[in-house]
Amino acid sequence: MTERRNLLRCESCGTELDELDPRTSCPKCGGLLSLEIGMPSERGAALRALFDDRLSVAARAERSDIGASGVWRFRELVLPHIADKNLVTQWEGNTPLLWRESVAHWASVPELLLKHEGHNPTGSFKDRGMTVAVSQAVRIGASAVSCASTGNTSASLAAYAPLAGIPAIVLVPAGQVALGKLAQTLAYGARTLMVRGDFDDCLRLARESSERLGVYLANSINPFRIAGQTTIVLELLQQLGWHAPDWIVLPAGNLGNTAAFGAALRMASATGLIDSSPRLAAVQAEGAAPFARSFRSGFAERNAVRAETVATAIKIGDPASYERGVRAIRETDGVVIEVSDAEILEAKAVIDASGVGCEPASAASVAGARRLAKDGTISRGDRVVAVLTGHILKDPGILLDYHKDAGRPMANTPIEIDAEISAVERVLKDAVSTSASR
Ligand code: F0G
Repeated sequence: MTERRNLLRCESCGTELDELDPRTSCPKCGGLLSLEIGMPSERGAALRALFDDRLSVAARAERSDIGASGVWRFRELVLPHIADKNLVTQWEGNTPLLWRESVAHWASVPELLLKHEGHNPTGSFKDRGMTVAVSQAVRIGASAVSCASTGNTSASLAAYAPLAGIPAIVLVPAGQVALGKLAQTLAYGARTLMVRGDFDDCLRLARESSERLGVYLANSINPFRIAGQTTIVLELLQQLGWHAPDWIVLPAGNLGNTAAFGAALRMASATGLIDSSPRLAAVQAEGAAPFARSFRSGFAERNAVRAETVATAIKIGDPASYERGVRAIRETDGVVIEVSDAEILEAKAVIDASGVGCEPASAASVAGARRLAKDGTISRGDRVVAVLTGHILKDPGILLDYHKDAGRPMANTPIEIDAEISAVERVLKDAVSTSASR
């Protein structure tokens, strides 16, 4: 297979780099790099058929076939020409698209589907970007990989690096990472630096150390991460029979995913996979909403804030992929909004109680869909896909705090009993009569 047919290009000054260049931002101006790939030889129906054939391989669980990965199934649009021997995959993706009446009802969006990225191998969408970034690290012979993280990126990098036999070093804000994510990161074996600072400090350090020490940076400024994350959208379009929904709603922090979604829709339209494009709605937490603030000024200015929110995954004050995020919103006639922590927690409680479950940041998408339905931006008949970015067990601490607090609207407080059958009987009777009276 021929290598070296893709290209890295600076989105600010146009500088071109070879795709095997280990730098993840422009050496001339510091701008973001994008991965440019050639158009595939198949288009429209032929391309859809190619991807659908591979999906049937995935359905038969032939896990030895690379097409069974929900990322590499779309390889012509992700990273063409990479040799199979370089691929580092855990058959990520293949996540479900769910409908739950209670969630749709709460959000006042009857056709609300939930794309649950928490079903990935490490429990978040980051695996889709990481399989590509770590495969690229193998391809360029990186000696070490690193990232800054609010927890999910570090868990994902920590899991993929050992598959590649490359050491991983991660920087996380001390005391601000959800329990499940920190536990995963340590257990998978990444060298973990707890930085006395916030995520924005961690990212600054990760970028500096990558430049000075030559470590390959696996944050979402890395264009190979973005390429992998485009498959969230490609896969959901495939699940909808290549009929685009009216809206895709997602939580937004560092804006890697917002950028990836914009890129995916650009590609899906250019290759004729779809003939109409959905609108994007990026949702931030009120205390960490610099992008929403910029949107309100028509993107006249870039903002940075000191971030504060219960949704630690998106507690980011100065999003690194800002320009790419702006492009994604502009191109899709999208919107950027913010929701309060109370709305996030209420949405999460509804999603959790439906049996689906997600981490707090993920629930921002459903809380956002509800806001947009209430203010009429989303119309009654619109088909909406909300992306749930992470698994319920990522943040068990917040769950226990919520459910132990009987004052919370949906609290399910645990009941301590004596070790006697009569005590069990009392609780059971109460449970049956409560459910009958519903
Ligand atoms: N949802 C979850 C669960 C996340 O972990 C993140 C980002 C986002 C949404 C926002 O995505 O940054 O692409 O806009 N988590 C990163 C991390 C920052 O380090 O795990 P984004």
